[in-house]
Amino acid sequence: MRATDNPLWWRQPTPCERSPALTPELHQKLTAWRRHLHAHPELSLQEKETAAFVQDKLTELGIPFEAGIGGHGIVATLTRGHARSRVGLRADMDALPITEDTGLAYASRTSGVMHACGHDGHTASLLGAAALLAADTSWSGTVDFIFQPAEEGFGGSRAMVAAGLFDRFPMERVFGFHNWPGLAAGTIAVHDGVVMASGGRITITIEGHAGHAGMPHLTRDPVMAAGHLIVALQSVVSRGVDPLDTAVLSLCTIEGGTAPNQIAGRVTIRGTLRYHREAVKHVILDGIERTCAGIATSFGVKVTPEIVMGVGVVINTPDEAALARIAAEKVKAEVRRDLAPSMAGEDFAHYLQQRPGAFVWIGNGELRDGAELHGPRYDFNDAILPVASSWMAEVAKAALASN
Ligand code: NI
Repeated sequence: MRATDNPLWWRQPTPCERSPALTPELHQKLTAWRRHLHAHPELSLQEKETAAFVQDKLTELGIPFEAGIGGHGIVATLTRGHARSRVGLRADMDALPITEDTGLAYASRTSGVMHACGHDGHTASLLGAAALLAADTSWSGTVDFIFQPAEEGFGGSRAMVAAGLFDRFPMERVFGFHNWPGLAAGTIAVHDGVVMASGGRITITIEGHAGHAGMPHLTRDPVMAAGHLIVALQSVVSRGVDPLDTAVLSLCTIEGGTAPNQIAGRVTIRGTLRYHREAVKHVILDGIERTCAGIATSFGVKVTPEIVMGVGVVINTPDEAALARIAAEKVKAEVRRDLAPSMAGEDFAHYLQQRPGAFVWIGNGELRDGAELHGPRYDFNDAILPVASSWMAEVAKAALASN
């Protein structure tokens, strides 16, 4: 049976029963909000309607907020009691330039744009956490709810920090989560240390001399140089990086030439590099520089590598990872501590460079073909909204109580 015949068939029994703090009514409301966001995805830096929707719901919940922080970013704030400690919870709001193929009733109404990473679910979960904490009288302190734009490689966290996030809202710690297809629905994975990779985008331009395909001696062929360069670059990780370290260098697009009987003048190669340890970054960057220079000399072409680095490795701090586990146990989620870090990136890393914190994965349920993160048949599992919202509310309370 194809997933699209009945999109709900694979879903797990609701973890709602295991999170008594969140009522079925609120679960229903969050599901409706999540599906609205899913049907109306917006690309990074363009989250205008999404931000308006979030502001509307915060107003409905009676929670004050400030908008327009680092673009379409919003920070809502709740203060209760006399405690002076302060904690941040973060969700991301942007969608991807992917064409949805789920067949769902609430599938994207914007062609070529899709919530294929579940940021619709993260946003709804954070609204749920805000609703829970607004109705909960058992805590004291201040909680900031960070609704971040432009996570998908467009520097949303950096923009919010540059706009004074930690000065205007002086939180001491920050927490967040990502849904994780392939991890049982509602299970919470907490890493000790590295959670997700850092990396960079690579663009390599090879310039030669164009000319007649029958007279190659009068040209400098960038296509042939590109072939050698692609093969040579595979040795940067395999021969340069300690086998006990983790790194990947993938070249994913190549463009060049317009006619089958003309040697092209220029080739562009694009790709990505990822690693879990900053020291490895320098090994890879040096390797790329050296290899490009060598190919340029060998083939008499000009090779220019340009690398735009990401924000950094996502690394949980020990005390905050412990708080994340305490909160997971509090919501009666199954806790996994044995999962390897991912080579995917997350700009939550930028917050963790400013403040201690933890970033967890919450299982989205069975991994189906095409329904992995960034896949065309992916969908956030609404059954995990209660555990996600409850975990966020509990981790905030645990952090405030630990000061
Ligand atoms: Ni994501």
